[in-house]
Amino acid sequence: MCKTTNELGSVHHNPPLEVIVHSELDAHHIAAAELSGLYPNKFGDAKIAVYFNKEGVELRSTQKPKQKGFRVNFLEIDRRTGAGNLSRKQPLPKAIGQSTESVLDLTAGFCSDAFRLSMMGYKVTALERSPIIAALVEDGIRRAKEDRKFWKEFGARFNFIRGDVLNGNNPEPHEVVYLDPMFPPKRKKSALPPGRIQLIQSLVGFDNHKETLELFNHASKIAIKKIVLKRPTYAQEFNKKPTHVFKGKLVRYEVYLQPPAT
Ligand SMILES: C[S@@+](CC[C@H](N)C(=O)[O-])C[C@H]1O[C@@H](n2cnc3c(N)ncnc32)[C@H](O)[C@@H]1O
Repeated sequence: MCKTTNELGSVHHNPPLEVIVHSELDAHHIAAAELSGLYPNKFGDAKIAVYFNKEGVELRSTQKPKQKGFRVNFLEIDRRTGAGNLSRKQPLPKAIGQSTESVLDLTAGFCSDAFRLSMMGYKVTALERSPIIAALVEDGIRRAKEDRKFWKEFGARFNFIRGDVLNGNNPEPHEVVYLDPMFPPKRKKSALPPGRIQLIQSLVGFDNHKETLELFNHASKIAIKKIVLKRPTYAQEFNKKPTHVFKGKLVRYEVYLQPPAT
């Protein structure tokens, strides 16, 4: 019988990195030294370069070194309210809930969901375990803080932590725990040009059902009201029937309510 991709087991990468520093910032030199130590490019075959320069920290393809890379830029997030990007009528905030105050994102990635939620007014704590992704997020925060007005309005409710609940981090209970694990691709080779998700995938691999279940079990110890799990529309529903489902074009948000406290 043919196995589906998510039965094939997880693939976690520890890719060699080319680390390039053209910056005078101490924070950049410290982060670059850490990444060089963790992901040595012993054979000079790194496919991804982390480039530290005055614009920030960028991921670039070593095959296309001149091509503009990817940076975390919170200042560029579309700030339209009404029916726009920051509307609470979108499927994600609908799943999180109008009356919710605090959200814990256990799989933060580049924090686009987490920061968008904090821009919508939720108090968000975001955890990310990959040191490469964390270095980009921390640099994004550093640059966003330089715009004091922006940070006061949108960043004050946002808290980023490097860490992993499956490996020692023990965050405080939050009303909602949000999970967006790396789901295996539909097809092994995508015809699409590498976007942000493909980039994360090439850095951190993907999680299988067992790992997502482990995360889910941890989430149920921390979530006060509910767990919200993001899944691609092509994936089947998670292990048990969700209480509610909010559908987007490519993804859906499965809501699992917690049993009432006794
Ligand atoms: C699909 S991405 C999340 C994308 C994110 N929602 C965004 O908007 O940018 C999944 C991320 O979760 C992280 N991750 C997976 N398991 C984790 C864990 N146990 N603890 C912390 N981070 C984890 C991966 O390193 C990866 O960066």
